[in-house]
Amino acid sequence: MLSLVIFTSMSKYIIQGGNRLQGSVNISGNKNAVLPCMAATILTAEEVTLTNVPKIRDVDVMLEILQVLGARVNREGETLKILTENILTTDLPTELTNKLRGSVLLAGALLARASKVSFSHPGGDVIGRRAIEQHIEGFENMGYQVNLADRSYSATKVQENHQDIDMFLELPTVTGTENIILCAVLRKGQTVIRNAAQEPHVVDLCNLLVQMGANIEGVGSNTLKINGVDSLHGTEFRIGSDPNEFGTYAVAAAVTGGQIELTNCLDLDVKPIIWALEKMGIKFEKTTEGYLVSVGHLKALSTNFPFTANFWPGFPTDLISVMIVLATQAEGVSLIRDFIYESRMFFVDKLISMGANITIADPHRVVIYGPTKLIGREQETPDIRAGMALVLAGLVAHGQSTILKAELIERGYPNVIQNLNSLGAQIRCEEP
Ligand code: EPU
Repeated sequence: MLSLVIFTSMSKYIIQGGNRLQGSVNISGNKNAVLPCMAATILTAEEVTLTNVPKIRDVDVMLEILQVLGARVNREGETLKILTENILTTDLPTELTNKLRGSVLLAGALLARASKVSFSHPGGDVIGRRAIEQHIEGFENMGYQVNLADRSYSATKVQENHQDIDMFLELPTVTGTENIILCAVLRKGQTVIRNAAQEPHVVDLCNLLVQMGANIEGVGSNTLKINGVDSLHGTEFRIGSDPNEFGTYAVAAAVTGGQIELTNCLDLDVKPIIWALEKMGIKFEKTTEGYLVSVGHLKALSTNFPFTANFWPGFPTDLISVMIVLATQAEGVSLIRDFIYESRMFFVDKLISMGANITIADPHRVVIYGPTKLIGREQETPDIRAGMALVLAGLVAHGQSTILKAELIERGYPNVIQNLNSLGAQIRCEEP
């Protein structure tokens, strides 16, 4: 049965560092795939079943919003059944959409199902500007009029636009691409999206929609051709496994000098991650269930060219924070760059206070001199990924580390405490 736990309370993680991690972790469903797939369920009046759904707080909040919109929801373990026979409101509740960026995906889905929507600028991690003008431009191209006042948007269909549309995205925005897809699948005529995002989560969304009866060509490429259909139907779909969780636990094995088997991962989706980590001396041995990750001599990333987060199939920006922790334990100088977000790197002042030797070159580049010994401190995490990076730093550090606002980590990572303790870490969660 459904059980909702909306996070209003703060929690903290307390870690005693120094333990070598050993064991196995079963990688969960992809956070950034399950959210658009949940939004897609409201495109049909029939039931959609999603499996391999991760137990994360963002899913809890997305479910709350879906229920406000009129969905009936049943969640048992990792299976989620969503049935939205009628849409009760097209006003997205700000107090919930403030909590996660993925909620913006309901805008495209509501336009497709109910021809109108009103919503506030979505919340989520504060890692940069996080603009949505490309989503809005996409809606306008498809015949919707969008008004903006004080960070609140309202959009309605002003004309039936049955013409074929060919649009180009200035940058391959992930949720922007997904929002346009969600809005386009039920519109008459063809919608072409060029420079579309190609991340595994975009592919998952397209595959779900195709299973529901949508007609999408070019899935997995940067040119998507969506031929509108009259209606979509229910289906059952398995969410792909999370490359960010895979990369995070691989780095956990490396920084603690441990050995972890990671199971339930998708070879193609983890390829860019394995490529980068192998360069630093991390070993990946294929097993029947996944990969056995161990570490040799950790060496810095080359400074000839900055190691750069990029759009898929580049190295994911969401792993840059843990890569910085890894670089603090590697021998040599690493130059790491993330041009996608303006403030992703700012959390490194917390690593510096733990003893890391890091120079912030500019908002998009940091230079890390390693290896350094880290000392446990009390810190507050600013976002999901920085929070997990601080957990990894705490596992390596001498003494006790405390991470405040740890509930943010649980927005994107399931079973953190259980997983890490089962690997031999000493970590506990306290909720006041
Ligand atoms: N951008 C614009 N205009 C737009 C859209 C985006 O300027 O209209 C800019 C953003 O300001 C940002 C950059 O483009 O600087 C990338 O934004 P994008 O839209 O691609 O990111 P997103 O869709 O908001 C998703 C993930 C993020 C992940 C990024 C990049 C979800 C719910 N979120 O965000 O995940 O970092 O793609 O891969 O899918 C996380 O999981 O921790 C996380 C932040």
